[in-house]
Amino acid sequence: MKSVGIDAVEIWTGNLKLDLPGTFAEQMGDDPAKYTKGLGLNASSFPDSYEDIVTMGANAAHRLMERKGLEPDDIGRIDVATESAFDNSKPVSTYVAGCLEQVFEGDFHHANKGERKFACIAGTQSLDDAYNWIRAGRNRGRAALVIATDTALYARGDAGEATQGAGAVAMLISEDPDLVELSTEQGFGSADETDFLKPNQQFPSVDGKRSVQVYLARMREALVDYQREAGTITVDDFRYAPFHTPFPGMVRKAALLAYRHITRDTEIEDELAEDIGRQPREEAFDDEEAFHDAIREYMDALKGTDRYQEWYANTIEPTLTISREVGNWYTGSVHVARASALKHAAENDIDMAGEALLVGSYGSGAQAEIHTEVVQENWHEEIEALNVDDQLEARYDINWEDYEEIHDAHNHEMDVDIEPLTTPEGEFVFDGWGRMGERKYRFVD
Ligand code: CAA
Repeated sequence: MKSVGIDAVEIWTGNLKLDLPGTFAEQMGDDPAKYTKGLGLNASSFPDSYEDIVTMGANAAHRLMERKGLEPDDIGRIDVATESAFDNSKPVSTYVAGCLEQVFEGDFHHANKGERKFACIAGTQSLDDAYNWIRAGRNRGRAALVIATDTALYARGDAGEATQGAGAVAMLISEDPDLVELSTEQGFGSADETDFLKPNQQFPSVDGKRSVQVYLARMREALVDYQREAGTITVDDFRYAPFHTPFPGMVRKAALLAYRHITRDTEIEDELAEDIGRQPREEAFDDEEAFHDAIREYMDALKGTDRYQEWYANTIEPTLTISREVGNWYTGSVHVARASALKHAAENDIDMAGEALLVGSYGSGAQAEIHTEVVQENWHEEIEALNVDDQLEARYDINWEDYEEIHDAHNHEMDVDIEPLTTPEGEFVFDGWGRMGERKYRFVD
C-alpha cells in the first residue's frame, strides 16, 4: 500500500502581536493569570493592514515551494481550508495560485483547486482529501498543496476576543512523505450543533461555554469511533498528541478526558486505583447527577497524580508552545500543534523516526476527527527548516490604540484605511481592489 502523508510544512504568522497578559488584560481590567494560567496564552498574532488569509497562505506556500525546489507543474491540487473566506464563489485557492504565479515560472492551470469549509476541522479534511486523491492514483505523480489560513477575529467585547489569532500553515501532501505518514484509520464524532457559527457574517456568534462542552463530547465520540476501527490504544502508544488548540486551556481539559477514557479497564487504571480509586462506572449510580459528581471528583484526583502529570508534560505540553504565542489559527491550529511537538523533539534530541502521533482535530458545528501519524526518517531536516521562532520574534508589539485600529481595519463592515505598522519584505501584500470587487495582490521584494 502506498505511504501517503505530509512531506513538508511551513508556518506563516501575522506580522503583529498583541500581548494578552499585558496590553489586553490591563485594558479589560482582568488578572493577567486568566490569560497565562487559565487560557494558557501569552500573545495573539494579528494581521497588519496589508495582510489577509491570501497573503499569509501564499507566503507560507511560497516558502514551502522554494525550500522543496518545486515548480507549479509539481502540484496537482491546491486546497485552502479557511473559515475567514471573503468570497462565496471564487475560492481562496485561486487567489493563492495567482500570487504564486507571480513568483514562479509556469502556472497552475492543470491543478484542481478548491476551498474546504467545516470550521477548524477543514484543514484536516483537506489533508484527507489530498490523501484520498493520491491513494486513488489520480495525482499523476504530483503532490497536493494544502493551506490552512485564517484571521480568527471575534467581535469587540466578545469573550472569544481573548483567543484571537492570525496565521497560515502550508503542507505538501505526497507519496513517500518526509515528515509523517497518515493512518488509513480514522474516527469521527459529528453532530448538528450551534455552538459557534457565522451565518453570513464576519465575526462568529459563539456560545463559549457550550463550545467547550461540545468540543469535549465530539472528541470523545471520535476517540471511541477510532478505537472501534483501529483497536485498543494505550496512552503510551503515542509520543505526542497534537489536538486542535483554540487556546491551550482547552487542550488541558481534552487531554484529561482522553487519558481517563483510554486508561479505563487497563493496568494503568488498576495502578492508579491504589491512590485515587477506580473510575466511577455509570451502572453503579442510581442518578446521573451523582455519577457526574463522582466523575468530576475522579478527574480532579487524576489531574493531581504524578503519573498523569508526567504523561501530560511529555505528550501534551510540547504541542502547545507555539499556540501560547499566537492564539487560535482555526483551521491551522492542529497543524501548528503537530509542528510545535516535532520542534520540541528536535530541540531536545528526541529521535522521532517511527514514533506515532495521536492527532485530534475539531471544528465547531461540530465534528471531531482522530487519526494517527507515523513520523518519517527525514522529519528532523523538515522541522529544522522552520523559521517560526524568528517570525514570532520579529512581530510588531501593538499597543491598545493600534489594536483598536487594526481590528477596525479588518472589519468588513467598516471602511478604515490605516498605515501599516510593519514594512513588508519578501512577501505578498494586499494591493487594493479590482474592478469587480476582487482583491488584488503583489509580491514585495
Ligand atoms: N488565574 C488563573 N486562572 C483563571 C483566572 C486567574 N486569575 N481567571 C480565570 N481563570 C481561568 C478560569 O477558571 C477558566 O479556566 P477553567 O475553564 O479551567 O475553569 C479560564 O481561565 C477562562 O476563564 P473564563 O471561563 O472565565 O473565561 P471567559 O468566560 O472569558 O471565556 C471562553 C472563556 C468561553 C473559552 C472564551 O474565550 C470563548 O468564548 N472563546 C471562543 C470559543 C472557543 O474557543 N471555544 C473552544 C471550543 S470550540 C473550538 O475549539 C472551535 C474554535 O476554534 C473556536
